[in-house]
Amino acid sequence: MIRPLFVVAALALGATAVVAQGDPIAERKAAMKSVGAAAKVIGDTMKGDAKFELAAIQKSLGTFVTVSKDYDKFFPATAKEGGETTAAPKIWEDMAGFKAALAKLNADATAAQASIKDEASFKAEIGKVMGDCKACHDVYRVKK
Ligand code: HEC
Repeated sequence: MIRPLFVVAALALGATAVVAQGDPIAERKAAMKSVGAAAKVIGDTMKGDAKFELAAIQKSLGTFVTVSKDYDKFFPATAKEGGETTAAPKIWEDMAGFKAALAKLNADATAAQASIKDEASFKAEIGKVMGDCKACHDVYRVKK
């Protein structure tokens, strides 16, 4: 009687570890991790640790645009706590402000996709986009 239950539990655990579908906290953390990885490419280029490569920069901007488009879908009222979330309660108190911060990243990253064509325009335009990360995190994320 014990064994089938054990198998089901093991399968459920395995599925959670791989995709975490239907778990908004795990999904939003994974989505922001992809944004963080995309930002690292940009950060390394800004610091001169990586050679400027337009395709890589555009790919990172594309990740910002895609994730920011509907990132708020991972914040239902049922997912305020747990899963080692660093999402601040402020998100649910001020969902309009949170959505506006997302829309700002979406608009700035979209504009940067069009305006960044070489290293000079990258240096001129990228700061505005990267400022949007901190602007949101300062208000809508708790420091751990
Ligand atoms: C509109 C708000 C908002 C914007 C804009 C935003 N973030 Fe986030 N970010 C969050 C929230 C909320 C979390 C916490 C999610 C959680 O723990 O549930 C987070 C978490 C993260 C994490 C941690 C992911 C993890 O759990 O390991 C990284 C890395 C990150 N953001 C990078 C970025 C970068 C880079 C940018 C800018 C390109 C950015 N974020 C823009 C709201 C935002």
